[in-house]
Amino acid sequence: MITLSIESSCDETALALVKDADTILAQVVASQIAEHALYGGVVPEIASRAHAERIPFLLEQLTQESSLAWSEIDQIAFTAKPGLKGSLLVGQAMAETLAVLLNKKAIAVDHLHGHMAAAWLKQDQKKSWLKEQPQAPYLALVISGGHTHLFYGKKFGEFTCVAHTLDDAVGEAFDKVGRFLGLGYPAGPEIDRLAQKGNAAAVRFPEVVLKDGVPGFSFSGLKTAAIQLFPKVKQEISLEDFLASFQQALANQLTTQVAAILAQKSFPVSSLIVAGGVASNSVIRRQFQTLAERFDLKLFLPPLFLCTDNAAMIGAAAYLYSS
Ligand code: KG4
Ligand code: ZN
Repeated sequence: MITLSIESSCDETALALVKDADTILAQVVASQIAEHALYGGVVPEIASRAHAERIPFLLEQLTQESSLAWSEIDQIAFTAKPGLKGSLLVGQAMAETLAVLLNKKAIAVDHLHGHMAAAWLKQDQKKSWLKEQPQAPYLALVISGGHTHLFYGKKFGEFTCVAHTLDDAVGEAFDKVGRFLGLGYPAGPEIDRLAQKGNAAAVRFPEVVLKDGVPGFSFSGLKTAAIQLFPKVKQEISLEDFLASFQQALANQLTTQVAAILAQKSFPVSSLIVAGGVASNSVIRRQFQTLAERFDLKLFLPPLFLCTDNAAMIGAAAYLYSS
């Protein structure tokens, strides 16, 4: 099954050709980071216009990169939600137009299901299929700029949310603290890079305790603590130490909450998927490895280039919906 997929929910315009849920035949991504960086965040009007301008060129590039004929494409997939309305519409219009022209179905994909489906894609496209695939029932943590959600599902696409953030997403905490510190947008990768040179025990951030012990996450307290604390400690503590400690506090909260949920043994799973842009964070990846070992789970962490927004994951999800 060959899927042509389109992702345009936020600030990346991406197209891919994917075979089943595992092989990327071709993919192209045009980032709009430079356009939005000036404003410190994504500007919806700029995003939708940039998607509309780029999609036709990217489609041409994609078809040149693969040797496929149009007739070999079996279905078109597009990100339908969640995301910026105007940006989603650009991708949907292109997908539906192609579907009519090729006489194929246009499959609406949930962006969060896309992030999870990245766990099915081969890490190295040139190597044969070595990696195991996640087994149902699924437990999947999606950590990105807009979401911090833990899902459980017996069938791919039919997920219930087990826990979610009560305020900011973890990526938002990275980005807003980074913006305050003048680290550019998005700040997650830069914080990760600087924190590698820092001491994570330099600053003690408060441990987050949620009301009534409900499963969930909360990052706005840590974000505010970081913004208020930095001006007070910056004479004594290096930026690297400060960021390493802040990143550690975010990572600890993610793993502590997921561990508490796993300890309840309400979900009979053998694998855990951790996906989304923030899943490319080096400390978060390491901590989830340790957690997976502790609970004897097989951990599925997509490779870095498939954690952040891309179209291959959307094509993989469309295939998994029908498999
Ligand atoms: O999944 P994604 O590309 O877009 C959304 O669906 O939101 O995630 C983007 C988020 C941003 O908040 C970015 O700062 C964060 O992922 N991110 C990271 C890292 N790489 C990207 N956060 C922490 N460490 C990283 N290495
Ligand atoms: Zn995303």
